[in-house]
Amino acid sequence: MTETKELVKKLADKHGRVRESLIPILQGVVQEERYISSEAMTEIARELDISAAKVYGTATFYSFLDTQPRGKYVIRICRTISCAMKGKNLIIQELEDMLKVKVGETTQNRKFSLLETNCLGWCHKGPAMLINDEAYTELTPEKVRDIINEYMKK
Ligand code: FES
Repeated sequence: MTETKELVKKLADKHGRVRESLIPILQGVVQEERYISSEAMTEIARELDISAAKVYGTATFYSFLDTQPRGKYVIRICRTISCAMKGKNLIIQELEDMLKVKVGETTQNRKFSLLETNCLGWCHKGPAMLINDEAYTELTPEKVRDIINEYMKK
């Protein structure tokens, strides 16, 4: 059995083989493997006895569930209206300049991926972004520079 198969089986054992387990299982796969491979999707579909299209649709609908390999640090900038109005474009510009990638890309050393996401629930403190599970709010280009410099040292 491949590692992915084993992982999916373990997650299905833990969360149960019902439809409601789909998201926790997808999250568990992302946590372990950093993205959801087509093998993982096929396995999840098999374990839960649902279509692969359903698994794929759910994985891509929630942009939290990656379907491509990502960097060690995944930066997700909120693109929703409050953050957009509070200057998320300046934040993206700063990140793109610093990391030398465009939104949707991963740096060559696989350290950072730069993504946009839907509302993170920090609208009152926008612009907001997540780096992996850590939230950063009320961003300014200067603040972003300091944060990213810290991650670059890690
Ligand atoms: Fe950006 Fe809600 S609009 S966190």
